[in-house]
Amino acid sequence: MRGLGRFYQLHVSCAGHADPTTGYFISIKHIDKAVAQHAVPYLDQLINTTAVTAAVPMGRLMATLIDRLGPPLDHTVAAVQLDLAPYYWLTIESNDMQHVTIHQHYEFSASHRLHVPAMGDDDNRSVFGKCNNPSGHGHNYQIKVAVRAPIDPRGHATPVERIDALIDEAVLQKLDHKHLNVDVPQFADLNPTVENIAQVIYGMIQPRIGELGVELRDVSVWETGKTVCVYSGDKT
Ligand code: NI
Repeated sequence: MRGLGRFYQLHVSCAGHADPTTGYFISIKHIDKAVAQHAVPYLDQLINTTAVTAAVPMGRLMATLIDRLGPPLDHTVAAVQLDLAPYYWLTIESNDMQHVTIHQHYEFSASHRLHVPAMGDDDNRSVFGKCNNPSGHGHNYQIKVAVRAPIDPRGHATPVERIDALIDEAVLQKLDHKHLNVDVPQFADLNPTVENIAQVIYGMIQPRIGELGVELRDVSVWETGKTVCVYSGDKT
């Protein structure tokens, strides 16, 4: 890469059974070769002939990637993911070629205190430790929202800016730089653990996401770089 290059990542997932003799399902070299021959030149050509600001039909692009990789990989490709930026990527699944899933990250800063009044102070301290500090403590939360969007007849999926605007209004403005226990009504009687935060954020998005003609798949919340909770709705 020279000068102002561009950086993308492509993830290809293949699904199948391991051969009982070799223990191989598919050779990784086989996948590498298929990607190098059938996906990279296609992307290269598009990248070299398309302005950065052009409205590329990303849904069609994702479907084309699966279509091109299918035959050389014996139709084992289950999903393809294209990272357009470190915190924004698209996925498509071979059994759902009319949709893409848009994954976008956001962040907010908030304070909270883990405390359950019904448990008594000693139990709270022993269960929640430092997180029970009476004055609270802060986190820089990262969230990832995954929405399943239809590919329209022109090959486009819902622009991510529309998702960004909805998340900003429905979630970030309500949580950013707030004390969750004090300022956010959903936590008035709910302990703001990362599990509950993921569910509350899901609940903030779910009633409104239909406005964009897309469907909420899941919400991931990172309380630290290592601790993440994913909520994908009540499946019971
Ligand atoms: Ni905490």
